[in-house]
Amino acid sequence: PRTAAVIPAAGSGVRLGPGAPKALRPLGGTPMLVHAVRAMARARAVALVVVVAPPAEAAAVRSLLDEHPPPHAVEQVVVAGGATRQESVRLGLAVLPRDIEIVLVHDAARPLVPVDTVDAVVAAVRAGAPAVVPALPVTDTVKQVDAGGGETEPVVATPDRSLLRAVQTPQGFDRDTLVEAHDKLAADAATDDAGLVERLGLPVVLVPGHEEAFKITRPLDLVLAEAVLARRRL
Ligand code: C5P
Repeated sequence: PRTAAVIPAAGSGVRLGPGAPKALRPLGGTPMLVHAVRAMARARAVALVVVVAPPAEAAAVRSLLDEHPPPHAVEQVVVAGGATRQESVRLGLAVLPRDIEIVLVHDAARPLVPVDTVDAVVAAVRAGAPAVVPALPVTDTVKQVDAGGGETEPVVATPDRSLLRAVQTPQGFDRDTLVEAHDKLAADAATDDAGLVERLGLPVVLVPGHEEAFKITRPLDLVLAEAVLARRRL
């Protein structure tokens, strides 16, 4: 089955501090987005990468991808993104050719995901799962708070940590299932794509995530990402 990767990259990256849109900030001298595209293109299954760019940067992203051609014959398409991540994903799904049967959705903000993780996600979708998510055990204890509780936010519960998983991307889907989930559900129904599929009542399968698939959100994450890259280049 033909597989495409949709990369939402239209976020501004406010939490990273002032500067260019997050996906365009450099990592080891190369924009984060280029690393993310390569991470998808390295997977043998991936035939097409759809990058969802900040609307003001769509042309710049197009030339950036032309400057950094993928390692093997992977088609690269750029579309303008939306106001929210879910809207950006929806806009990416809208341009998929008919013959694509499996879709990966991968955050540009996770540029260092290893190819083995991508391959494991694709394999689980091929094996019949409608939705597949890489996940890791949670190391911090997590508290649930009363959001209406004012500044002090009293704790209302402590979920059993052994039952929690932190999820990453790429998340992999049967294409029709993901499109149906995005069509039927409100954009705020879930904070990840697999969450929308869950809302349809369909099973979501986990595969082992990877430490290096962490999301670059805050300045410290950039320090870690640079260190991971430097170690790979040794
Ligand atoms: O903000 P956060 O790090 O959770 O964003 C996850 C991914 O979603 C990033 O790759 C970001 O560029 C993308 N995004 C998007 N469109 C938006 C907001 C975020 O494509 N409007």
